[in-house]
Amino acid sequence: MVVKETNVKELRMIAKGKVRDIYEFENDKLLIVTTDRISAFDYVLENGIESKGKVLNKLSKFFFDLTKKIVSNHFLYDDFDALPKDLKKYDYLKDRFMVVRKAKPIPFECIVRGYITGSAWSEYLKTQTVGGTYIRGGYVESEKFDEPLFTPTTKAEKGHDEIVSFEHMREKLGDELANKIKDLSLQLYRFGSEFLQEKNIILADTKFEFGLLDGNLIIIDEIFTPDSSRFWSAETYQVGKKQEPFDKQLIRNYLLSTDWDRKSQPPQLSDEIVQKTSEIYKKIYKIITDEELS
Ligand SMILES: Nc1ncnc2c1ncn2[C@@H]1O[C@H](COP(=O)(O)OP(=O)(O)O)[C@@H](O)[C@H]1O
Ligand SMILES: [Mg+2]
Repeated sequence: MVVKETNVKELRMIAKGKVRDIYEFENDKLLIVTTDRISAFDYVLENGIESKGKVLNKLSKFFFDLTKKIVSNHFLYDDFDALPKDLKKYDYLKDRFMVVRKAKPIPFECIVRGYITGSAWSEYLKTQTVGGTYIRGGYVESEKFDEPLFTPTTKAEKGHDEIVSFEHMREKLGDELANKIKDLSLQLYRFGSEFLQEKNIILADTKFEFGLLDGNLIIIDEIFTPDSSRFWSAETYQVGKKQEPFDKQLIRNYLLSTDWDRKSQPPQLSDEIVQKTSEIYKKIYKIITDEELS
């Protein structure tokens, strides 16, 4: 079953993200449903990807548990049996939902890059900067940075997220909060990349979202998923070139190979790409958790 839309009539949908439907739940909580929608270049595609929502939801849960020693997060429960009786008819919620603590989102995407690729590589080629900051010359494509870089962007309501400097973030949030977010992001990245290294996966880059809850900083949204991260296979990794698609990159590459103008709704994906992407998501889940997706 591919779940692209949800309609939980008993609850109020307060937001519909590119991938998640967010419902208000018991005042101070949210019920977040991760659908099988897929976005690329900030567009939601026509096609859904079978099992993708489950993979993202269960992977986030897996990593929320492992990272709570670094920073607490919004996760409360994902047990279908624990839902109120009147929601039990929504069978599609199984494995796709999470009840979380509602936080005040910090309006930045907290990106950490360990390797030079994607938009960072294009930017570097043009101006020798990454996230607006000068870095040393001599990097080749996909090379590991001397140190992981924190490169925040705004979280745009509409359109593309804009690169911002850390100074801008400090001005907006205050030194203390901004520094804390940067430190935690780098710590989380180190944890994630070391964990994934054991599984022969390179965490090229990843994105976190933070929120405030009763004055405390917590991590929200998702963590270390193939949507929020670039995963590369360590077995095939080679510097000086693009890496083999191991996640959404397959879809990005496909779209870039068409004559799509990147300014309008992207074209339909081929059945083959849809199928392959679904397989990749499931494979990643298996490699990371050592469990088959139920
Ligand atoms: N615990 C939380 N409290 C408040 N907002 C949250 C929480 N967790 C996630 N969100 C918000 O819910 C949305 C998740 O939906 P998603 O489809 O990922 O959106 P987006 O299109 O912005 O990526 C994001 O806007 C995120 O900031
Ligand atoms: Mg998101």
